[in-house]
Amino acid sequence: MAHMSSPGAERAPWTPMSWRDRHAEQQPDWPDDAAFEGTLKTLSSYPPLVFAGEARQLTADLARVSSGEAFLLQGGDCAESFEAFSADSIRERLRVILQMAVVLTYSAGVPVVKVGRIAGQFAKPRSSGTETVDGVALPSFRGHMVNDIAFTAAARVPDPQRLVEAYHQSASTLNLLRAFTKGGFADLGRVHQWTQEFVRTSPEALRYEQLAQEIDRALRFMHACGLDHESVPALHEVDFYTSHEALVLGYEEALTRRDSLTGDYYDCSAHMIWIGERTRGIDDAHVEFFRGVGNPVGVKVGPTASPDEVLELCQTLNPERIPGRLTLITRMGADSITDGLRPLLRAVADAGHPVVWTCDPMHGNTFTAPSGKKTRHFDAILAEIKGFFDAHRAEGTWPGGVHVELTGDDVTECLGGAEDLLDDDLGLRYESMCDPRLNGRQSLDLAFRVSELLRG
Ligand code: PEP
Ligand code: CO
Repeated sequence: MAHMSSPGAERAPWTPMSWRDRHAEQQPDWPDDAAFEGTLKTLSSYPPLVFAGEARQLTADLARVSSGEAFLLQGGDCAESFEAFSADSIRERLRVILQMAVVLTYSAGVPVVKVGRIAGQFAKPRSSGTETVDGVALPSFRGHMVNDIAFTAAARVPDPQRLVEAYHQSASTLNLLRAFTKGGFADLGRVHQWTQEFVRTSPEALRYEQLAQEIDRALRFMHACGLDHESVPALHEVDFYTSHEALVLGYEEALTRRDSLTGDYYDCSAHMIWIGERTRGIDDAHVEFFRGVGNPVGVKVGPTASPDEVLELCQTLNPERIPGRLTLITRMGADSITDGLRPLLRAVADAGHPVVWTCDPMHGNTFTAPSGKKTRHFDAILAEIKGFFDAHRAEGTWPGGVHVELTGDDVTECLGGAEDLLDDDLGLRYESMCDPRLNGRQSLDLAFRVSELLRG
């Protein structure tokens, strides 16, 4: 990736629109600009989805991750779907993340900051602008916020009305998440009930069940000591935050609002937003947009990122060095992590930038299986996480978290795991519209493995 400016180089003043003067990668080719701008105008009149105080709370939580006192668990779909939209699907995604968080908190004794790739994860960057099937080339699917996945010319035309639908689906999803996390579903007294039917008899579930019994015992002990669990919010409510790749900048601009308390701008489409590996050019539009919003922000960092590039991102996105403001999400691939990560860790530590380092073990380990299905092997995912921990231990930095694509459902999208899914099995229940996700069992298994690494 070319870089043209030096860190701290003068930039024109930031506004929610200043990204428009720069080159924006991966933007849809809207057929009618006036219709697109009209939709943005409508969206800009709608209520914000989150409010600034919540984003600041997440920054404070992430600050504890950056100083090594907490761990970040970020996960969810590669791409959310307009079709697979139901209370069940929202609950199952929340449930698996809560289960993983309990495993990490209980077995590793570290507070877990929980962030979903949910309630807004509707836009996808693509390696190629077109997809060819049987000699027919059509524009690529770019997520339900933009076009449809069906392989017809009509379905692939970007439709700005989808931005409005994405907004409404995000709002209902967020509403249910708030109800679940504050209304009793997340009560620690219910940890037993979080295990789904298909997981219940598996070794991971038995291990989880043991842990749940220990938590029950601890709760009974506290109760016997006179501590009323109802009066301790931390035991029956959780803070659960939303995040997505803020790819379609017009949508993000339309949801950017000035906070009346501080006068600062926040992108109120989600608590946290991140920049993808394909859109992190230092002089490009995404970095420009992100530098001006007050939310905690992430950047994906792939195997080609140089220490200088990463330092420029730190300097541009977090010039005031606010702890928790910037999360670097490394996605190197199991083979590149050992050599690739350490120079970055050292450069950022030497420069004194307070970042959260988190490991996306998914996107550097994707390949197409002989069956033609896009997949990842559970062992490669674990190997990258192990390499991530090793690199941090060697540099004396904190392996702050994991960023994973998962679902609570019994899908067959990633190879391996305790059930040892094979290529032939992928066709059984491959439901992802984009990248392959860990299923409920694989996710739980991963949480146990990560807690072992954390204890190690
Ligand atoms: C993603 O997180 O789904 C994604 C596209 O990741 P990356 O930008 O790291 O390739
Ligand atoms: Co993905």
